Formats: sequence, structure tokens, C-alpha cells
Amino acid sequence: MNNSPLDKSLVEKKIQELRIPDVGKASIREIVALVNAVEEATDFKYIRMEMGVPGLPPAKVGVEAEKEALDKGVAAVYPMVDGIKPLKAEASKFIKNFLNIDLSAAGCIPTTGSMQGTYAAFMAAGHVDKKKDTLLFIDPGFPVQKQQMMVLGLKYDTFDVFNFRGEKLRAKLESILSGGNINSIVYSNPNNPSWICFNDEELKIIGELANKYDVIVMEDLAYFGMDFRTDFSKPGEAPYQPSVANYTDNYVLFISSSKIFSYAGQRIGIMAISDKLFQRDYPDLQERFKGTTFGATITLRLLYSLSSGTSHSAQYALAGMLKAVNEGSYNFVEGVKDYGERAKKMKALFLKNGFDIVYKKDLDVPIADGFYFTIGYPGMTGNELVANLLFYGVSAIALDNTGSDEEGIRACVSFVQHNQFAALDERLRLFHENFRK
Ligand SMILES: Cc1ncc(COP(=O)(O)O)c(C=O)c1O
Repeated sequence: MNNSPLDKSLVEKKIQELRIPDVGKASIREIVALVNAVEEATDFKYIRMEMGVPGLPPAKVGVEAEKEALDKGVAAVYPMVDGIKPLKAEASKFIKNFLNIDLSAAGCIPTTGSMQGTYAAFMAAGHVDKKKDTLLFIDPGFPVQKQQMMVLGLKYDTFDVFNFRGEKLRAKLESILSGGNINSIVYSNPNNPSWICFNDEELKIIGELANKYDVIVMEDLAYFGMDFRTDFSKPGEAPYQPSVANYTDNYVLFISSSKIFSYAGQRIGIMAISDKLFQRDYPDLQERFKGTTFGATITLRLLYSLSSGTSHSAQYALAGMLKAVNEGSYNFVEGVKDYGERAKKMKALFLKNGFDIVYKKDLDVPIADGFYFTIGYPGMTGNELVANLLFYGVSAIALDNTGSDEEGIRACVSFVQHNQFAALDERLRLFHENFRK
């Protein structure tokens, strides 16, 4: 690595100081800490692809609505645990406008980011039926959700969907669900980290099997509408964001404000529980949490215990943003399209310098350009690639952190600015010069 643009011994020293045992396997936060430490000790700026932080300003309409709410004094008042009425109403309209799904305002519950939403939902799902003690992740996936399961002390199973796209998904899912121990299925769509997007055929399979085996589907829409190959941005007009909600009534949707409105700092999202699931009585769940329906258990037992609701002013912000998109005065997809542009250019630089895209296709069509993509380098494991790229000033996480069986890394485009592309190109050129066989 004689040609690396960084002092190798300095990077190694920082790895030791942070006590990272195997840097190739480091978590997102460990990579963040390491890169911060190296940057602080030098003038060097990394190309930072490790963390999915929105790299755009927050939606102004949200900031204004939030300021107005603060000026009115909402900070002094506890919000309702299941959310303020205007937010619930706008969320229900949003689901109608952009998914074409009918879901009552009652089931639209604000949470402190989708992180809290999944935490509460995993906790509930883990107790709906004593025989069903396992949650199933369709991977690759968002690593922190596995950490949530670890913290909750709940069991999960997982498989990498790489070889099970399309109709093949049915047999794979059925082989697991037929065991009778699965309470819910979790996936993100578009997918973090691979940016694959399930199509309607695949969502239909998931929905049908959820009905057949009575499992809850948790559809994480953190990147709602961000499959830029199709324009999902027009309220009340097809095409709509594809969703399992078209194929089963047994679902929870997670709609985060973090990426579509660049509102991550205020920690607010919507957990949308289908009307049928919201009203459902699960005797085992009632026994465990002394609640009534699934929906009431989530709000009055779990969210109440976790944080007693979601920041009052942030709820007004999200209500304002959803109102603007529902009325067509703010186009949330346009607001984040630059991520697709960045991905397209960054992928081209990696390909030019000997890398390959790992998750390349949605069945027979190339995947979209969006918030993340996955890349590999011939002859290198994902862990080796993370470690080696760190010496060339490029940071990312390995795919094995995400439940993928493939060798490679996840690249997040949000923090990489257009004016860094020349530096990225040069660093990848040096990397390839050193490692090419
Ligand atoms: C798939 C997925 N789900 C959930 C989240 C977290 O969302 P929030 O910021 O709303 O907690 C992320 C953030 O990166 C994500 O990628």
C-alpha cells in the first residue's frame, strides 16, 4: 500500500486506540469513530460512505411548522401517546395518496424515528403467540434492527434474498414459515443496503404467505418513493409505491421522515398498523402486557413505557410536511433525487477502477440508483475491502454486517458531495493500481 494517500501507521494506531479488534468487521459507529479520529489528527478528508445520514437540508416546510408549534408553546405539554390528530389524519391521507391503501388515522402512530417503531413492533410481535417466538428478516438488512432484537432478547431467523428473487422467494419463505415458529417478516423496500426493490410479484408472495401462516409483515419504507426508476411522487395518482399492504391485512408499515424529508435529527416517523391488525386480540399478547388489542398494546403499553410518545413539536413538523405533499405543494421525491445522481456517478467510478456491483438486478432489470449500492473487488472479501479502502481514504461497512452472504461492501452516497468525485476517482485508481492482479 505504498501508494496510499494516508499514513498507514496513523490509521493503525487509531484502530488500536479505539480497540477495534477486526476493522473489516467494524460496525457503522466504530467506522465513524475511527474516521473521525483519523480526520481530526490530519488534514485529510475521507470519502465517507459508512453511515446513512441524510446529506441534504431538512424540508423547510417541516422546520417552519415545527417553529410555529414551539412558538405556540407545545414544548410544555405532553403529546398524546398515539399522536396528535392533525398528524394522524395527514399520515392516513399520505398512505391513501401514495400507496393507494385505506388505513384509518387511528392506526397511524408517530414514533421517535422508525427505530422506535420497529423496537416496539418487534417487542409486540415477539409475544403475539407463545408458539411463534421467532422473527424473520429477509436480508440483507439494516444492522441496528438485529441489535434491537439482541437488546430485546428475542429470537430471529434470517436469509439472504440474493438467490431467492421472484417466484423462488415462495419456496424459500414457505420452507421457513412452515416451521410454525415465525411471528413476523421484516424487510426494507427499497432495501438498505443493497437497494434492490421487491416488485409486486414478490410482495404478493410475501402477502399471500403471511395470510397462509398468520404472520405479521413489517414493511420498512424508510426510503419511500426513492426507487427513482418510477415516479411515485404524484398524490392520488398511479403509479403508487409498491407495498405488501395490497396483498395482506396483516401488516405494519414504517414511514420515516429521516430520509424523505431529511428530518433525521428530530427523530420522527410513522408506524402504520393495518385496521385489522390494530383491532386484533391476541390472547398471549394480552397476557404478557395486560393490554387489549394489538394497536392499544403498542401505544398504551409499549410506546407509553418507552418514551410516552414522540416529541410534540416534531409531530407538528411531520404533519406540516405530509400536508404539503398531500396537497401537492411539496414534491418529496424531487427533494431527494440528487442521491440517485450521486449513485450513478459513484458507481461508474467504482466500475472504471476494477470494482463490481454485488446486488446488480431486480430480476431482469438493473437496480435503481439511490441512497445505497453494493460493491465488491475481485479476490477480496468484504471485510478485507473495508480494511484496505480505509487506507485509501474511503470508508464503508462490510456486507456481512447486513446479513448478506455475498462478499462486498455497502456504499452510502448521502455524505459524498459532487465535488469529491475527482478525489474518489483518484483514490480508487491508486487502490486498483496496488491491488490489481
Ligand atoms: C431500513 C431503515 N430503517 C429504519 C431506519 C431508521 O429510521 P429512523 O431515522 O426513522 O429511525 C433506517 C435508517 O438508516 C433505515 O435504513
